[in-house]
Amino acid sequence: MPTPPSPRDLLQIDDPRAAASSTPLVLLHGFPLDRRIFAPMLPHLPADMRVVACDLPGFGQSPALADAFSLEDLARTVRAFLQARGLLPCVLGGLSMGGYVALAYHRLFAADLRGLVLIDTKSTADTAEAKANRDRMADIALREGSSAIARLMQPKMLSDTTRRELPGVEPTLMEIMQACPPTTIAAALIAMRDRPDYTPDLARTTVPLLMITGADDAIAPPEVGKAVAAACPPGLGTYVEIPHAGHIATMERPKDTAAAISGWMSARLL
Ligand code: MLT
Repeated sequence: MPTPPSPRDLLQIDDPRAAASSTPLVLLHGFPLDRRIFAPMLPHLPADMRVVACDLPGFGQSPALADAFSLEDLARTVRAFLQARGLLPCVLGGLSMGGYVALAYHRLFAADLRGLVLIDTKSTADTAEAKANRDRMADIALREGSSAIARLMQPKMLSDTTRRELPGVEPTLMEIMQACPPTTIAAALIAMRDRPDYTPDLARTTVPLLMITGADDAIAPPEVGKAVAAACPPGLGTYVEIPHAGHIATMERPKDTAAAISGWMSARLL
């Protein structure tokens, strides 16, 4: 069993322009990443929006929760953190694995949420083949370390346009992946392997959902993102595709991604 969550288990970037009165936007990063993937996007969000990007337990500068954890454990830790900081209700956003944690949070604590922003992610569970690959990757992480995982992830993360036009993004992303502890990588892989299909939750949600997908995302491609938005009740799911972005739209097209989020939040009066 993981140790009880403590709000100190998450570190955050607060946008310094934050106004305490607005609905907070809370952002959860993907695998094997940390909150720095949101940094390029923050300057493009409206000045009166309160934005908090968290390091999930064991990632970035946050201490580990336990040797093994589930996505629901991460969601509970996020909730304790948000409660302690007075950040509820909020709009909860997550990129890829962060999206899985946001969906786990939605399953457990939907009443806390004014909206869900999912970026480059999916609502379905792993296939048998994907589960076997998680086991193989966890083994590699523990035997060969984080750099081996970063090298395996590298070809799938960014679009060709990003590599060509923004050559600084890939080294930053590699640095973030290489800094992720192998024990966290292995535990996160097992947690993702064991996640349920969250799609049925979407069919009965009352929370508006924005799905943002990079047009060139090789891990969670546009047809997968469209299916997430389509799974919501009529009027609640919105799909936005970001041209030229791969799997990390927040770093690859930060301005377009921020515009999609802020446009949707203001249309929804969030
Ligand atoms: C991520 O970016 O968080 C991962 O690629 C998600 C996954 O492997 O399913």
